[in-house]
Amino acid sequence: MTRLYGYVDPAEQAAMVLDHVRVDAYARAIAQVVRPGDVVLDIGSGTGILAMLAARAGAGRVYAVERTGAVELVRLHAKANGLADVIEPIRADLADIESLPEAPRVVVSEMLGHFAPAEQSHRVYRQARRLAAAGAVLIPTDYRLVFAAARPRGAELELAELADVHGLRLDALIERLRHRVALTRLAPHDLVGPQWAGPAIPSDAELPTHFVGEAPVAVDGPVTAIAVSFTATLAPGVELTSAVGAAATHWVQTLFPIDPLPGRAGESLAVDLWPRISADRGTWAWRVTGERGVREGDAMDALVGDRTDFLAQLGLRTRGPIATPARLAAWAAMLGGATSDTVDADRLAAALHAAMPHRYPDMTEARQEALSLLRAVDRAN
Ligand SMILES: C[S@@+](CC[C@H](N)C(=O)[O-])C[C@H]1O[C@@H](n2cnc3c(N)ncnc32)[C@H](O)[C@@H]1O
Repeated sequence: MTRLYGYVDPAEQAAMVLDHVRVDAYARAIAQVVRPGDVVLDIGSGTGILAMLAARAGAGRVYAVERTGAVELVRLHAKANGLADVIEPIRADLADIESLPEAPRVVVSEMLGHFAPAEQSHRVYRQARRLAAAGAVLIPTDYRLVFAAARPRGAELELAELADVHGLRLDALIERLRHRVALTRLAPHDLVGPQWAGPAIPSDAELPTHFVGEAPVAVDGPVTAIAVSFTATLAPGVELTSAVGAAATHWVQTLFPIDPLPGRAGESLAVDLWPRISADRGTWAWRVTGERGVREGDAMDALVGDRTDFLAQLGLRTRGPIATPARLAAWAAMLGGATSDTVDADRLAAALHAAMPHRYPDMTEARQEALSLLRAVDRAN
């Protein structure tokens, strides 16, 4: 199915529900954790599938929070399944909920992206923790990123095709694609070493600024990418993974390309990658260190065009200044980044850098954050 409209597209919701590996794992975790009479919070309820599984496991009340119009599905499905007296659909962004009528003992949510911490999940879970009863159980409790050294043949073949299109060479496009972070389903033969699971990161921890891991190399030869998957612990003994070779889910791997790095069988590459903006379309930078060299990558290098195009990529208006609501304008003015009722991305970045040098140590990071803020504002307008 081709999906067009995000989470209000029924095909998008269907693709998640039809991911049997995912739903089965959640069903097992919910059956294990939810006790009769429990108050449960389901964040990002979608079709209401997890809320209904919780109700069927005996929950006395399920608050099913969904920020899109999909909340209508939650209401209809709860009614059709005779669970309307247990499930209370709430249309809201969890960030805007200050309290619930009862504090939940269980919080369930599926906000995993191909690169696990998606949809601001850390921030959302931290907010859920504040709303929940002391000692509440989160599903998932934590996740680990899974790293692997890779040499994906499919990507190489695609690039080779661009070297001759009707006898014309498209080298500039090839060059950009070489730097592009790709979401790809890899096969075990695309890897040149075993997968390595990083440390468990609690779902409600602060979003890490760096994800550090290892990618062992099992055969001599060039490594051209680091593949990242995840394993989420939904409940004790119930894991959900997107690792290469595991039962297929609707998630694929995130592939961070590097210029070929000669690998030696037995060595382990050190991987450091960091997401630079908190918006949903993350951009990453990364560094891979092996015995025979260091390679660095930056997702922004792959984009075609100049800064104006970057703004468009991020969904910002690019003609004229961006009108901002009074609250952000006042806040930006305080930092020195505003001109009357508009905010200039570069000035805001400079102000962020000056005000919080430990958080935005260089202008690139500060500009990313400024763009992210402006994008959020632009969407809210
Ligand atoms: C990955 S889907 C999961 C849907 C459903 N729980 C399931 O398991 O099939 C995430 C859902 O969370 C919603 N969502 C994302 N962030 C949210 C937030 N901050 N507050 C409320 N809903 C949110 C999205 O609109 C989407 O429907």
